[in-house]
Amino acid sequence: MDRPLRVAALASGRGSNLAALVAARDAGRLPVEFTLVGSDKKLAGALAVAAAAGIPTVALNPKDYATRAEFDSALFGRVADSGADLLVLAGYMRIVDAAVVAPWEGRAINVHPSLLPKYRGLHTHRRCLEAGDREHGASVHFVTAELDGGPVVAQARIPVHPGDTEDDLAARLLVEEHKLLPAVVGAIASGRLRWQGGPLFDGAPLTRPLSLADL
Ligand code: GRF
Repeated sequence: MDRPLRVAALASGRGSNLAALVAARDAGRLPVEFTLVGSDKKLAGALAVAAAAGIPTVALNPKDYATRAEFDSALFGRVADSGADLLVLAGYMRIVDAAVVAPWEGRAINVHPSLLPKYRGLHTHRRCLEAGDREHGASVHFVTAELDGGPVVAQARIPVHPGDTEDDLAARLLVEEHKLLPAVVGAIASGRLRWQGGPLFDGAPLTRPLSLADL
């Protein structure tokens, strides 16, 4: 591509992963242009992060729409209108209608705080502790209609220490998410990671999740 990758993001929460992407871009480590940050929560910290970075924002209220599909279609329509090549779900806490997400196959990624396929959905840190796992992690995957179920492209791992709480795990893992997500977006921007019916890295189908060192 002869222009920077155009990236939009959806986020429902504080926006620390979005901030990590913006920081990487500002440091010259991520050659992307942010087209839009959208949210289902008008008070989401992510919108403030975006506004401070001069990125256009949109917040739509699901309650203003009769059905989930109508809301999803409106929000994803705004993303499409922004001209984004890539959509990053960075703490976007809603399940998206299958028909709305379908056209984004291979062009949308999500960051999830577990070693997928373990612990899709919520409370991943608690479930990891309850299972007695000695290792926890975060995954970046391509988005499909299945919640946290699309092909995993990269993972970061952390050890679980005796006495760790959910908050301890969340805090240590977030540090890794903030490195992993910009690295994956960077790999897409450079063309090393792309989608051709499934993820390809350096021209070969992915057989295992990439690590930060690979990227
Ligand atoms: C992160 O833990 C991410 O993995 C999950 O939601 C959280 C979002 O945090 N999907 P933030 O809003 O990016 O700070």
